[in-house]
Amino acid sequence: MNEEDYNPIIEIENLSFAYKSDNWIIKDANFTVNKGEILGIAGPSGIGKTTLSHIFKGIIPHSIRGKLEGTIILNGLNIKKLSISKIARSVGMVFQNLNAQLFSNTVKEEIEFGLKNLKMDPSLAIQAMKKLKIEDLSDKSPMNLSAGQKQRVILASIMALKPKILILDEPSVYLDPPNKIRLKEWLIEQNQEFQTTILIASNDPWLIGELCDEILFFKNKSIKKIHKSEVMNEKTSWRWLYT
Ligand SMILES: Nc1ncnc2c1ncn2[C@@H]1O[C@H](COP(=O)(O)OP(=O)(O)OP(=O)(O)O)[C@@H](O)[C@H]1O
Ligand SMILES: [Mg+2]
Repeated sequence: MNEEDYNPIIEIENLSFAYKSDNWIIKDANFTVNKGEILGIAGPSGIGKTTLSHIFKGIIPHSIRGKLEGTIILNGLNIKKLSISKIARSVGMVFQNLNAQLFSNTVKEEIEFGLKNLKMDPSLAIQAMKKLKIEDLSDKSPMNLSAGQKQRVILASIMALKPKILILDEPSVYLDPPNKIRLKEWLIEQNQEFQTTILIASNDPWLIGELCDEILFFKNKSIKKIHKSEVMNEKTSWRWLYT
């Protein structure tokens, strides 16, 4: 992927996707994401937020197949023509399924793994552990942690890589309020310092309300980029129209 950054950094044209035959999850979506934007991805459970995140990360179509139509341009390049490893250099993703992402013997090794893989300084792991207050878990096995601890380890391991595009799929489900605030602060810091483009798939009105002005909103298989005031009230609770 080119070193130069394009603006918009993600361009979606006539995107449609079905896992099987004509059972469309997304139909004819058109939108762009600008470099440095922090965008929410919202809509009720089962609507396609994770599916869209997988498309941005290239998991669809490279690992999960299905019927994918339209054009997905990432930083000026067509995602269908990029390998997963090329995409990984620019796009970091925190997955919704915690256990599928943990495989190292210790928390420290878990966070160092991605850094070494991308030939980055492994000592950045310490900084990441401090940010999410997991230094005391450093030598523990990630698999034996609580869900909230696992979530923080995963966040630290991906955010340490400082990807140009950061996708977080339900990143706050298991976080307590102080850790949600830590996550929010670190995301804002990464956005301001490195102009990281951040996409947050979440039904957490606090997180979306605090971080995003605009939302990719799913309705009737289509995705619209709207201002959050269209679906949230001033108390940052959703007023979805689920019908
Ligand atoms: N691998 C798959 N194969 C077939 N269908 C799938 C697959 N993954 C998801 N689906 C279906 O696609 C639809 C969208 O699922 P997705 O996981 O993207 O929803 P979501 O908005 O992320 O939901 P949640 O808020 O519960 O995380 C659902 O109907 C789901 O059953
Ligand atoms: Mg999901």
